[in-house]
Amino acid sequence: MAFLVDAQDAADGTHASAPHPLAPLTAAEIEAAASAVKAAKGLGETARFVYVSLYEPSKHEVVAFEAGGDAPKRLVKVVIREREEHATYEGIVSLPDGAIADYKRVAGVQPSVMFEEFMAAEDIVRKDPRWQEAMRKRGIANFDLCMIDPWSTPNVEPGVGPDDGRFVSPLTWVRDDPDDNGYAHPVDGVVTKVDLDTLTVVSVEDYGVVPVPKKKANYSTAKISDPENVPHFPEGPRQDVKPLDIAQHEGPGFHVDGYHLTWQKWDLRIGFTAREGLVLHRISYDKRSIVHRVSLSEMFVPYGDPGPTHYRKLVLDEGEYGIGLLTNSLELGCDCLGEIAYLDGVVNDNDGKAVTLPNAICLHEEDHGIAWKHTDFRTGYVEVRRMRRMVISSIVTVGNYEYAYYWYLYQDGTIEYEVKLTGVISNGAVKPGQQPEHGVVVAPGVYGPHHQHFFNVRLDMAVDGTSNRVYEVTPTADPAGPENPVGNAWRAKEVLIADETMARREADPLAGRFWKITNDNVKNELGQPVGYKLMPQHVIRPFAHPGSAVARRAPFMFSPLWVTAYDRDELFATGDYPNQAAGGAGLPAFAARERNLTDTDVVLWFTFGTNHVARPEDWPVMPVHPIGFKLLPSGFFVGNPSLDNPQPGGDHCHHD
Ligand code: CU
Repeated sequence: MAFLVDAQDAADGTHASAPHPLAPLTAAEIEAAASAVKAAKGLGETARFVYVSLYEPSKHEVVAFEAGGDAPKRLVKVVIREREEHATYEGIVSLPDGAIADYKRVAGVQPSVMFEEFMAAEDIVRKDPRWQEAMRKRGIANFDLCMIDPWSTPNVEPGVGPDDGRFVSPLTWVRDDPDDNGYAHPVDGVVTKVDLDTLTVVSVEDYGVVPVPKKKANYSTAKISDPENVPHFPEGPRQDVKPLDIAQHEGPGFHVDGYHLTWQKWDLRIGFTAREGLVLHRISYDKRSIVHRVSLSEMFVPYGDPGPTHYRKLVLDEGEYGIGLLTNSLELGCDCLGEIAYLDGVVNDNDGKAVTLPNAICLHEEDHGIAWKHTDFRTGYVEVRRMRRMVISSIVTVGNYEYAYYWYLYQDGTIEYEVKLTGVISNGAVKPGQQPEHGVVVAPGVYGPHHQHFFNVRLDMAVDGTSNRVYEVTPTADPAGPENPVGNAWRAKEVLIADETMARREADPLAGRFWKITNDNVKNELGQPVGYKLMPQHVIRPFAHPGSAVARRAPFMFSPLWVTAYDRDELFATGDYPNQAAGGAGLPAFAARERNLTDTDVVLWFTFGTNHVARPEDWPVMPVHPIGFKLLPSGFFVGNPSLDNPQPGGDHCHHD
């Protein structure tokens, strides 16, 4: 059973009529802001709206508002590509009056690739005689069956900097028929470049014919029994899967009012932006604040194959496309199971109109195994409790790949973030009998080039308030000697990350290093500063050579953790305009300010990822690969916060 939630965000408490300052923009607000800019600046058809997003009030304005103060001004940030002028503008519009608070040209940048450009690039390549000739050489006659994916154009070689033009570099796959999975048939060796301002094909490079793989790789139930399919299941779908129903006879345990979510002791606000997708704000437990804002700040997927079709595949999926725009509409019983509530995502199109993405965010509860247990083996007395978690999720499709994002809130105060990678691997073709050096063959003639996935999450913390500090904690052996006579001693060595000269932190997974965010002005009953710890998981090393153009593209990946001081305008690990950028914006620039990080408002930027060496089992659609990290209370509470979880139903679960 599902219930839909009214997208109108009701006010809370004392602010009866105003929306909460962090409520996502409504469709009307998006359109009002775009119209106001158009009118004030006399914009015509060539002015394209890249982003229309809430310009969030600063943390202190939100805190003041929640304490009963005035609502901060409702501000909207617009990013515009003026196609005719080959120029980028950004502005701030205040609502409801539509006054233009700021409007300026931003030199030397390329904003994200717009959805209309994504589609237009495909159309104009399809009509290009050079590309058509390359297809004919490969025996492809029906160009309508070609899928031309506009991969971004990284600034890793001359001629593609932000002032050189506005580019994408489409690659081609071809379907057998309109319902076929076209990614089974990569057209290797043909790379095109499109100028998005002029909508012209700049170049078509043909590195020679590699036969287009013929085997089908469909994943629909109707087609998996086809003997031509790789893999194929002659019996069709398995018959021994019995129904598994999640029943919550009294309805869900959470409550949602607009974008305000409460669940047991948790309280938070949900946001959604065109660039980041899902955002969580103001996460608190038992009315104590933990987090001001968390979001995925950037993704980087560098391919490790030097072949001509693949070496430019160095995508910053979020900064170059906007993953909010690519969010799926979720379906009951498919994407989430149980008692579900959905929230819509509202984004802009490139004309400045609003687009509602229905059911973009899924809210539901899950049983998550046991929370804790102890058996007193002498008396036979057993106590066990179940763990419940609140799940807030969304799924995006970036071309061939799917990323499913999950925030989990647990009854013991844990916050977890998980990304499930799935979809179709980006691939290439190999000649029969050839073994690629930088990839793995996954089907006859098809290989998956090695690649890495990096995810950077911005954690704007507020542990019992905004005066926080961060310690790096490294379990370390004591030296051998009279104080350590049998050599067993070790301690949890703490180093204060005092200021931004210490902003970049390395992981030490074998030591189990973690980072602790504390508020030294607030002590628990044991006299310890209250804190949360970031437990890193899935930390990987970049294979891009330091100093290389690839490395400059995403310097954040060279340190799994960065700590910076809070600034409302520092939201993205690669800066505001990573598309075609030369590098240096984002975290290196933020940290270069050398601000204080002690007893102040701190932001952690954590990067995790996976080195994807494809498996044949990843074909044709990849089993989900989950990776992520946790924030655990560490002295935030005294004792196990889930000790008060109720006993599970039925007498059989506990006995004495
Ligand atoms: Cu992958």
